[in-house]
Amino acid sequence: MSHQLKIRTKEISSFSENSSETYILLVQKGAELNKTGQGIWNRTDYNFTKLAKSENFTGEKGQLINLLAPSKLKAHRILVFGIGSKADKQEIDYKNIGGIIAKTISQFQDNSISIIFEDESEKQIAQLGAGLHLRLYSFDKYKTKKPENGSNKKPNKINYTFLVNSKTAVNKALKDEMAVVEGTLIARDLVNEPSNMLGPVEFSKVCLKLSDLGMDVKVLDEKDLKKLGMGAFLAVGQGSSRPSKMVVMSWLGGKKNDAPIVIIGKGVVFDSGGISIKPASSMQDMKGDMGGAAAVVGLMNTIALRKSKANIIGIVGLCENMPDGDAYRPGDIIKSMSGQTIEVINTDAEGRLVLADVLWYAQDKFKPKFMVNLATLTGAIMVGLGTEYAGLFSNDDALANDLLEAGQISGEKLWRMPLDKAYDKMIDSQFADMKNTGGRYGGAITAAQFLQRFVNDVPWAHLDIAGTGFGVKKSNINQSWAPGFGVALLDSFLRKNFEK
Ligand code: BES
Ligand code: MN
Ligand code: ZN
Repeated sequence: MSHQLKIRTKEISSFSENSSETYILLVQKGAELNKTGQGIWNRTDYNFTKLAKSENFTGEKGQLINLLAPSKLKAHRILVFGIGSKADKQEIDYKNIGGIIAKTISQFQDNSISIIFEDESEKQIAQLGAGLHLRLYSFDKYKTKKPENGSNKKPNKINYTFLVNSKTAVNKALKDEMAVVEGTLIARDLVNEPSNMLGPVEFSKVCLKLSDLGMDVKVLDEKDLKKLGMGAFLAVGQGSSRPSKMVVMSWLGGKKNDAPIVIIGKGVVFDSGGISIKPASSMQDMKGDMGGAAAVVGLMNTIALRKSKANIIGIVGLCENMPDGDAYRPGDIIKSMSGQTIEVINTDAEGRLVLADVLWYAQDKFKPKFMVNLATLTGAIMVGLGTEYAGLFSNDDALANDLLEAGQISGEKLWRMPLDKAYDKMIDSQFADMKNTGGRYGGAITAAQFLQRFVNDVPWAHLDIAGTGFGVKKSNINQSWAPGFGVALLDSFLRKNFEK
C-alpha cells in the first residue's frame, strides 16, 4: 500500500486514557451529549451538552468540533464528529465517515488516534476502517519528488486504536473488510498504471500472483485462443506487437457440484481505436480500458483473502487495440468462437468482440449459475448516466435486482437499462450474422445486445462501467483517477446472496 496506516483494536467498557494524541467521538443526531464518549467528559472540564449548544452541534452529519488541549488529558484534542441519524445507514455511509476522518486527521500533526465506538456494529466499524484506507490511497509511484513532510502535511505513519465493545467480532469484520480494501486498491493500481508498463503479458503476471493465495490460475496464449476458435477476440489484438492473453482464475470454495459463478472483465490495456483511430484528445484515458479486468482481479484477490465459500471463476480477456499493417480493418468479417460471423464496421467497437468470445467460452466450458461481465464498453453510457451510475443490462430480473441492491448498499451504484428485440435488430448486417456497431443512437444498448448474442440464455448481467471506471469525481473515499469500481459492489453482492 502506498500509505501507512495501522489499525488495532482494544476493548473499552469505560474511558481510560491511553497514549493517543487525538480522541475521536462519533455522535449521532439526538444523542444525549454528556453521556457520549464512555465517560470521557468526566475526565475533562468540558460540559459537552453546554458546549455543543453554543456551537450549534446537534450530531447532524458533517458537523465537527475540535476541542483543543482538553484539561486533565495528555491528548492534544478531542474531535467530535456528527454522523446523522442511525436509521438505515448503508456500508457506504461508514466508509464515507472513515474517509472524512482520514482527511481531517491529515490536517493535524497527530499520528496516534483513538476512535471511541459506542453504538456501531462490528460491520460498521470495519467499514469505517476501510474508509480510512481508501481515502489515503494515492498513485504516486512515478513521481520522483515526493511531497515534503512540512507542516500541514500528513504524517508518514498513522496509528489508529479502535476502542470497541467486542474485540473478536471487530477483528473478524476488519479482516473481511481489509480484504475488500486490498482488492479495490489492486484494481485502482492496475487502472492507474500506464500502458507502456502494463501490457497483456504484464497483466497476466499480476493474475498469476493470485496462486499464492490458493487460486488456480491458467493463462491461455494466442495459440490456445486460436485453437478455441476465438476469431473475434484475436482480431482486436492483431495490430499490436504485444500478444493477447486470456486468464482464467478459479476459486472453488463451495460445494463440488455447485455450478460456479463466472465474473468476466474487458481487459483492453490500451484502446487507440485501431484503424478507426480515436481523436487525440483524451486518448491517454484509454490506458484505463482494462477497468473491467482490473475489477475482476481485485475481486478474486478479495474472495481468496476472505476464503469465500462459493465457487467463483474470474476470466479476463487481455489485448491491445492498435493500428498497424496487421491490424483488423473496417469491412473485415470475422468468425467468433460461437460460429456466428461479425462484420467489423468500426475497429473502435473492440470491447464487445473480446467479450463475445470470452462470454461464449465461459458458458460453454463452465455451465455457470450465472455470468456477470464488467467493461468500459461505450462512451454512450457516459452520455446517459454520467460518472455516478454504471449501466446494468440483464436477461434475468432476479439477478438484476440483487445487483441493483448491492449497488445501493456499497455505494457503487447501478442503473438498469433495457434490452429489446427492436434494439437487437439494429446490429443485423448485410454481409454477416451481425455487425459490431448499431448506428448513431442507443449505443450502450446496441453494444449490450451484441453481447447478449453470445450468452446462450445463461442468466447474465453486463455492467457498462465506462463512466465509473476512471476519471470520476474525487470523493470521501477516493482521491485517485481510478476508484476501483466494481470490487466492493460485487463483493457485497456475493456475500449477501451466495455466501451465507
Ligand atoms: N473503450 C471505449 C469506450 C469508452 C469511451 C470508455 C470513453 C471510457 C471512456 C470503447 O472501446 C469504444 O471505443 N466504444 C466506442 C463504440 C463506437 C465505436 C460504436 C464509443 O463508445 O465511441
Ligand atoms: Mn474502443
Ligand atoms: Zn475500448
